[in-house]
Amino acid sequence: MNKQAKYWETSYLAGKWDYLFSPDELGHHLILLGYIVYVCRARRVLDVGCGAGRLLELLLPYRLDKYVGLDISAEAIEQSRRLADQHSNIELHIADMDIFSPAEAFDVVVFNECIYCSVDPLGALEKAAGWLTPHGALLLSICREVYRGDLEKYWQLTSPSFTTRQANTVSNRLGLTWDVRMLCRNKA
Ligand SMILES: C[S@@+](CC[C@H](N)C(=O)[O-])C[C@H]1O[C@@H](n2cnc3c(N)ncnc32)[C@H](O)[C@@H]1O
Repeated sequence: MNKQAKYWETSYLAGKWDYLFSPDELGHHLILLGYIVYVCRARRVLDVGCGAGRLLELLLPYRLDKYVGLDISAEAIEQSRRLADQHSNIELHIADMDIFSPAEAFDVVVFNECIYCSVDPLGALEKAAGWLTPHGALLLSICREVYRGDLEKYWQLTSPSFTTRQANTVSNRLGLTWDVRMLCRNKA
């Protein structure tokens, strides 16, 4: 297990990420849900860095055709499995997003609070764009207080390849702010 994987594994085992299920986190999760279900009308979803399955839990009532979640932490995937039991449309993988390559296409690929975990946050988007169905979209949620770089610059760097179709900003009572965006690939 590499250093990064060990960090995530230890912190999941210690319960450090349990708060992602708290109401303080609902804003950005519900915007993602809205984009997936009502804007993209997606039936096939890939959730990169899916963690313990908060987005999966919110999506369950919508009975997607396929939900694939991947995470580098075996413990996070184990926690997600409690939601996946008895749902044949749900697949969960312990995998590194920088190596993973799916065998099928998706209507949306979600990077929810995890694009900054990639060794190449722009390259990861380019790669994920290749996993989309023809009218598919990438969905990103980034917490401004967690992203270590210049977030505005990051969005600008995506612009030669992607168009921002939707953008929302949401803040919670603790003073945390998320940028949530829907990106579509520009035609070559
Ligand atoms: C802040 S958590 C967000 C979890 C989840 N998306 C949510 O918002 O509820 C970041 C997640 O990315 C995962 N992660 C970190 N590096 C990763 C990598 N290289 N490949 C796949 N997952 C990774 C972590 O294990 C963790 O579950």
